[in-house]
This record gives sequence, structure tokens and C-alpha cells, in this order.
Amino acid sequence: LKIGFLASHGGSNMQAIVDACRNGKLYGEAKAVISNNSGSGAIERARKHGIPHYHLSSATHSDPESLDRAIYHALTDNGVTLIVLAGYMKKLGPLTLRHYKGRILNIHPSLLPKYGGHGMFGSKVHEAVLANRETVTGATIHLADEEYDTGAIVNQREVAVLPDDTAETLAARVLQCEHELFVETLVKISEGQIVL
Ligand code: GRF
Repeated sequence: LKIGFLASHGGSNMQAIVDACRNGKLYGEAKAVISNNSGSGAIERARKHGIPHYHLSSATHSDPESLDRAIYHALTDNGVTLIVLAGYMKKLGPLTLRHYKGRILNIHPSLLPKYGGHGMFGSKVHEAVLANRETVTGATIHLADEEYDTGAIVNQREVAVLPDDTAETLAARVLQCEHELFVETLVKISEGQIVL
């Protein structure tokens, strides 16, 4: 798998996948990292690991069409064959979506379709799960499309909600689950057990 990452935040999901490639668990390679946040942990981790990285955003490209083309070229120029959206808070443009259709994976920190959709990200998801007294939550990997969190579900894993959980403790447990789920899913894709 020649993986291109788009990440806006800390990049811990990307790190878990890069580690799996480096320790031989996952037959794959991180070919590019793109972030709309020049100060993101994802860019910092890419720099440390010598992975080609790009700060591409509405700040660097005011015109959405030129941003879409810049993202598309950063991916194709590095031979990316699978896109991993790991905490990427923006929508991909039509050129990138079309070229990589069916090969764009996103991770969401809930059991979609529950607690998904625009605006439901980060601690908002966990606060809603706690407010509704759910006893179980989890993480979902799905194909990304033009909308938020609506593409076909590829893999899911449950996480228990504990009585004394706060949004922070729950987020931390779900994030650990995300890391395990993403690596497991990519291994299954590389081995043909999951066909996109
Ligand atoms: C994760 O919680 C993920 O579910 C959400 O954004 C966060 C990404 O975290 N989409 P990281 O940047 O991979 O640490």
C-alpha cells in the first residue's frame, strides 16, 4: 500500500500506521503527508520520519480549485494509491475525490451512523455519547465521499463507556481503539481480506 495521509491535528493515527509499516506489521509505505495546519503534529511527525509533507490549505491556495489540484499532485507525484484521512477537517475537492474514488478511508470516533455528520467531531462526539448515557461507543472506518461521514462502512470496533468516564477519558480510549482499528483494517486491505 502506498499511503497518502491528510491530517489536521496531532497525527497519532498516522503515527500508528507509520509505526506498523516500520515494524513490518503492515506491508505499506507512507508516501506523503498533507495538512491544512502548518503547525500540526502530523507535519512535525512527517518531518521527523522523512516523509514528504505539504502544508496545503485555503491559506496557501485561496481558490478551491487550485487547492484541489495541489492536493491531487502532492498525492499522485508521490505515487499514492490509498488515501487515509486521519483527523482531516476539510472536504476533498472533486478532482482528488474522482481520481481516488473508492480508495479514500476516513476514521470517525463513533459507531456510525450514530453520532456522525458535519460538526460531530472531536470531543463533541464523546459529550453526546455521554449525554445520551450510551454504554458502548467505538470507532468507524468508512470510505470518504463528498459528504461528511456518509460513505460505505469498511470496519468498526466497539469501546465500552465506563460509568465514571468523562469526554476526555472516553476520547483517549476511543483514540487507542482508532489506532488499532486503522492498522488492522489496512493489514486486511493489503492482504486482500477487505476489498474496497
Ligand atoms: C481522531 O479522534 C479521529 O477520530 C478524528 O480526529 C482525530 C485525529 O486524531 N477524525 P490524530 O490527529 O490522528 O491524533
